[in-house]
Amino acid sequence: MVFEDLRGFLEHLRGMGDVLTVQEEVDRKFELSAVLRQVATGEGPVVVFENIRGFSGIRVVGNVLGSRRRVTEALGSPGGELLETFISRRNRPIEPTILDSGPVKEVVLTGGIDLHRLLPAPVFHEKDAGPYLTAGIAIARDPETGQQSMGIHRVAIKGKDRLGIFLANPPLAHYLARAEKLGRPLDIAIALGVDPLLMLASIVKHTPGDPDKFVVAGGLRGEAVKLVPGESVKVNVPAFAEIVLEGQILPGLREAEGPFGESTGHYFINDSPVIQVTAVTHRRNPLLQVVLPWAMEPDLLLSLGSGSEVYAGLKALAPKVKDLALVPGTCTFHAVVAVEEGASRGEVRRIINLALNLDRRMKQVTVVDDDVDIHDFREVAWAVATRFQADRDTLILTGLDSYVIDPSVQPGGATAKLGLDATKKQRGDTADSYEKIRVPGYARVRAEAILASTLRQSQN
Ligand SMILES: Cc1cc2nc3c(=O)[nH]c(=O)nc-3n(C[C@H](O)[C@H](O)[C@H](O)COP(=O)(O)O)c2cc1C
Repeated sequence: MVFEDLRGFLEHLRGMGDVLTVQEEVDRKFELSAVLRQVATGEGPVVVFENIRGFSGIRVVGNVLGSRRRVTEALGSPGGELLETFISRRNRPIEPTILDSGPVKEVVLTGGIDLHRLLPAPVFHEKDAGPYLTAGIAIARDPETGQQSMGIHRVAIKGKDRLGIFLANPPLAHYLARAEKLGRPLDIAIALGVDPLLMLASIVKHTPGDPDKFVVAGGLRGEAVKLVPGESVKVNVPAFAEIVLEGQILPGLREAEGPFGESTGHYFINDSPVIQVTAVTHRRNPLLQVVLPWAMEPDLLLSLGSGSEVYAGLKALAPKVKDLALVPGTCTFHAVVAVEEGASRGEVRRIINLALNLDRRMKQVTVVDDDVDIHDFREVAWAVATRFQADRDTLILTGLDSYVIDPSVQPGGATAKLGLDATKKQRGDTADSYEKIRVPGYARVRAEAILASTLRQSQN
């Protein structure tokens, strides 16, 4: 099933009982994020806020991709391996279709814009500098090649028509650097509330020569994404987005942006570029989508965006790699890799080195055998506790490229990285000391039958 827009996806999820609608009045300052924080663990539902204090005609939606079940629904791959499905789909390019107009143009504002009155952007955390947009897909063109690309970037609402944007990552950080070299402003559009696969495509890695991420989105969807030309900028935007903010990044200008509670779970302040807003277009009664930082949703987005990239890279270079999971809550800094049983110590060390270097964000990699369920962190902790010796199985790398939002690194400084080899090692005795305890298969089948009939009896 292909979802044309966020509304279609929400309708589908509503049918599955996976949407919580809050009718009670909620303040966008702290209350909204506090409600999201309560549900944003495990498999908590999508939350739609119908009534935001001081606003009418606009709703806020959060936690849309905050569960594996919903990501699986979006991909339409029930029971499938998420990473494998994601990787195979993203490699079948489908070009976007450009329309003359679309629902995102139902309302067009090019003058008298006041973002503080238009958008109930939440103030998420106690010490945040102000309201932030956290689900905005920033879209721009390479000033040299004209190639479009995009990414999710945090956006501070700094004034009626003025935004701050945190651009640490390529490709947009590169586009701005090129525009500034030419002394030109950079046209930019920020799309809020798009179909779930377009959102996922927006954060895949983009290296020069890669297709436009809208082409990747088409592949994930199995159907072309529909775009419309921007109203005031030379950028194409999703025709079915809920809201699009258009503007120009002013060349050479940096202003304090933050503090803002980041996906590290810590506040981060930066000198960031500034956007002068030139137009706002939106659907009637739009939905403002938000992503709660340091929660299940960004964990899942990052697992697919960055995790799938590291996994595909590792598998290509080390075929014994079986699976990869990013550790929730670690902002892509920690990963667990499963390898085929019998990988040699040298192979495991190579895999650790590769994983720590494929993504500069990765700071700790634990390698386990594939009898460990790497999506169950109890099992991973068990493997480290029982198959790992600190003096024998630790690898430390130093002086590597760091990630700007990591608070443990000095600004501009290098980072150290850690690898743990928690795979089985020969102990020299005859018994298989590492065999995982379990009951025989026939007894497990029998146990399921016993429990099912006991449950039926207790319900009667
Ligand atoms: C929830 C979320 C928030 C993000 N916020 C930012 C941000 O504020 N600034 C930034 O540079 N990158 C941010 N990113 C990462 C970029 O979107 C991502 O790096 C980019 O799309 C391309 O990936 P690449 O840098 O691996 O090529 C965020 C990602 C996610 C999932």
